[in-house]
Amino acid sequence: GSGEPGDGGRPGDDSTAVTVQVPAKVNVQLAVGPPRADGFHELANVFLAVGLYDRVTARPAERLELGCTGPDADRVPLDGTNLAARAATALAARHGIEPAVRLDIEKDIPVAGGMAGGSADAAGALLACDALWGLETPREQLLEICAELGSDVPFSLVGGAALGRGRGERLSVLEVGAEFHWVFATADGGLSTPAVYREFDRLTGSAASEPQPSEALLAALRRGDAEQLAACLANDLEPAALSLRPELARTLETGRGAGAAAALVSGSGPTCAFLAKSAEGAESVAGALREAGVCRTARTATGPAPGARVLPDRTAT
Ligand code: C5P
Repeated sequence: GSGEPGDGGRPGDDSTAVTVQVPAKVNVQLAVGPPRADGFHELANVFLAVGLYDRVTARPAERLELGCTGPDADRVPLDGTNLAARAATALAARHGIEPAVRLDIEKDIPVAGGMAGGSADAAGALLACDALWGLETPREQLLEICAELGSDVPFSLVGGAALGRGRGERLSVLEVGAEFHWVFATADGGLSTPAVYREFDRLTGSAASEPQPSEALLAALRRGDAEQLAACLANDLEPAALSLRPELARTLETGRGAGAAAALVSGSGPTCAFLAKSAEGAESVAGALREAGVCRTARTATGPAPGARVLPDRTAT
């Protein structure tokens, strides 16, 4: 917002609203190790942000309030467990102020879909509140708060492409040589990330090996080589997601049959991701998935996409 000091908070006055746009992610490599003492799994997690976005708008309010719109809005909790609410509370606590803010989430990322939708809302709320409250919190501190909120939240803030180590929160930025064309097939109902990790533990019997990033995959990203990237895509959580949702195998198979260069479950699922060699290829895979009725919706998107960012004032027009 570009409002003058003191003009905020009046009902109907939107001049101090701040809107942040945050991308979804797909894991082009998700190598999972055995469970650690703290219950989390050691990862080599190669994140790619893709152009499906949630928006979070922050406005002055008497106390923390939360709203959500979009096709999946009824599945987003609007209490203190919401990651956006927790982000606002954590930022306010760090600065010793009250989280007096209304947060409105415009949800376009599938809920519990393995595309970091909740993490996106947390990163969006953090950035929106920081701007609304004029805090100018240093980037490293924002990243610390992100890591406390969830393993994928730091990446939602940073965007682009990155390698995540530890439980996924320790990031190193990766260079990407070209735009990649993706199709995302969403499913009815979500999958619980902890449940998918539990199934991973059951299937591997804690015999998972030390996770390592694939050099061939990092080179494919760097060169922007879709064909090589397709050959390297790997998600260790895929067998667990398929075990909990066997019908996803048909979705993957349909996309492959329609000419996708590669197909995999996105993160902990149940969204399925398809890499295409061109924008046209992506459209035709999306069409085939819709026609076969093996998903709820099929959406195309490109990546890398930028991380969380404040949008220009939407009320100024
Ligand atoms: O960190 P976050 O809250 O996003 O993780 C959600 C759940 O996913 C964790 O509670 C844990 O069960 C599982 N998880 C894990 N290992 C990771 C990341 C997440 O076991 N590296």
